[in-house]
Order: sequence, then structure tokens, then C-alpha cells
Amino acid sequence: MTVFDVSRAYARQEDVFYNDGRELELLRFVYGRPDLDKIRGNPTKVLEAIDEYARTQKYLMNVGEDKGRIVVDLISEVKPKTMVELGGYVAYSCILFADAVREAGGERYFTLERDPVFGAVIMALVDLAGLNDFVTVVFGSSDTSIKRLHSEGVLKHIDMLFLDHYKPAYMTDLKLCEELRLVTPGSVLAADNVIKPGNPPYLEYVRSTVAQKRKAVEGGEHELGVQGRFPDSTAKQYAWRQDGERLVSARGNPNLVYESRLINSFEPTGVPDGIEVTRCVREES
Ligand SMILES: C[S@@+](CC[C@H](N)C(=O)[O-])C[C@H]1O[C@@H](n2cnc3c(N)ncnc32)[C@H](O)[C@@H]1O
Repeated sequence: MTVFDVSRAYARQEDVFYNDGRELELLRFVYGRPDLDKIRGNPTKVLEAIDEYARTQKYLMNVGEDKGRIVVDLISEVKPKTMVELGGYVAYSCILFADAVREAGGERYFTLERDPVFGAVIMALVDLAGLNDFVTVVFGSSDTSIKRLHSEGVLKHIDMLFLDHYKPAYMTDLKLCEELRLVTPGSVLAADNVIKPGNPPYLEYVRSTVAQKRKAVEGGEHELGVQGRFPDSTAKQYAWRQDGERLVSARGNPNLVYESRLINSFEPTGVPDGIEVTRCVREES
């Protein structure tokens, strides 16, 4: 069996490391296991099977064990009723976090994924993990899905939000959630990859004061320049258009007060990364 050298592949950022058929191969790998009946209905065992594929076959861009634990601990502390994830990929974080939300007495986990093939993989693995009744897989671009779930009354409030999708959209999608009053005092945000590849616009936003945000809104600052602040390869990662994405235009709610801090951790490859944990503590009038 060939052991895939994750650190080498990761270092060659330009190389294809997802969407080359490996996600469907993962499904066949997991569903082809002789011990499938022992895995069924057991989220931990499904995660172990995904980990085994990533370790022995091909790298998967999952949140991984180290950063995953940070968010799981946060879930047991916050006890969210509703948690939303932006960027589901092959359901690793979804199964890990949805299981923790259910354990903590929560009601629902939404995973938003734009790629319909990845969405189908998520559904198949969530079903295997026995989380079908708890997880809603939402197909489509995050901003469109957030607006639709809100307008249909399906999503009324986000107690916890995990951001792990198109990097320039972290800030714009958060502003959209603020504007729709899905994110309010009490909401907690966990943003992945704020060190690797990094997300300066998002970090600046969640760390700025109400006065700074009000000034930015009055000055008409908006998201148009956001994509230019990322290295080309990062801004193109997951982008469906080579010239960048059409980011949602939202003013946000500058009156929300956040307390935000970085928790240092590691990518599954061993590369240093971090999760920015942001708590919305109050709203100024
Ligand atoms: C890093 S992967 C997510 C990994 C997953 N959270 C985990 O840890 O197991 C990023 C995913 O976000 C999806 N994505 C990127 N931009 C998106 C968008 N605007 N809306 C919804 N999904 C998006 C990609 O298709 C990809 O599957």
C-alpha cells in the first residue's frame, strides 16, 4: 500500500490535493470495509475510518484532531442549540461537531457545502454515522444558503458558527449573519485557518471596536477589496470563478461587541495553524 506523504503534498500548494476523485474514493473505502456493521451508527468509528483513509491513501483537507478538539471543547462549554458550519467537504468536522452538539443537548447542526459531489459524500457519511436526524446538509453557496434558510424561517439564530470555507468569504458571510440577526449577543464563532493560510480581513473585523466598525461603515468601506488582500492561490482556492468570487455585500451590525482570541494549534500535516474564537458579548446602542 502506498503511504501518501502529506507534508510534501501540502508544501506543494499548487498541486491538486482535493476534487481529483479522492472524495468518492473515500466513500468506497469506508463503505467497503469488512467491519462496516460495527462502524454504522458510531460517529467515532466513522471518523477513524476517514482518518485511516487520509493517513494511508490520500490527504484530505479536514480540520483534523488538534483543531477539532478545540472546537469540541468549546461546544461542551457553550452548549449551542443550533450550530452552523460553512464548508462541509467530506463531513469530518460535521460528524465530529454534530456528535458533540447532540451530546451537549443541542437541537440541530447545519453544514453548508457548495460542491454537490462533496454534499453527496457528506450525506452518505452522516447517514453511516447515524446523525441523519440531527444534521441538515445544505447545498449551495454559503451566502445564498444563509439567506434562504433565514427567509424560509428554517434558521432563526446561530448559537455557534464554524467558518471553514472560501477564505475571503469569512468576513462577508459573518456580516450577512449579523445583518439578518442570526448572530447576536451570545453567539460564538470559531474560524479555522487563520494562521495557515491566514485571514487578515476577518481577524481585523472581529478584533475591531464598535467605534472602528461604525467609522468603516460611515466611510463606505465594503468587501470589494477583500479578495485582493489574499495571496492569489488562497483567493482562488475553492473559487468557482478563476477571477474570484462574487462576495455578498452586507453592512453587518457594527454595534456588536466581540471578544476574540487566537488559539494556536496545528494542521493535520503538523503545520502550525490556529482557530480564532470570537464571542459576541453585547450590543451597543
Ligand atoms: C477546508 S474544506 C472544509 C473542511 C471541513 N470543514 C472539515 O474540517 O472536515 C472547505 C470546503 O468549503 C467548501 N466551500 C468553499 N467555498 C464555499 C462557499 N462559498 N459556500 C459553501 N461551501 C464552500 C469547499 O467546497 C470545501 O468543501
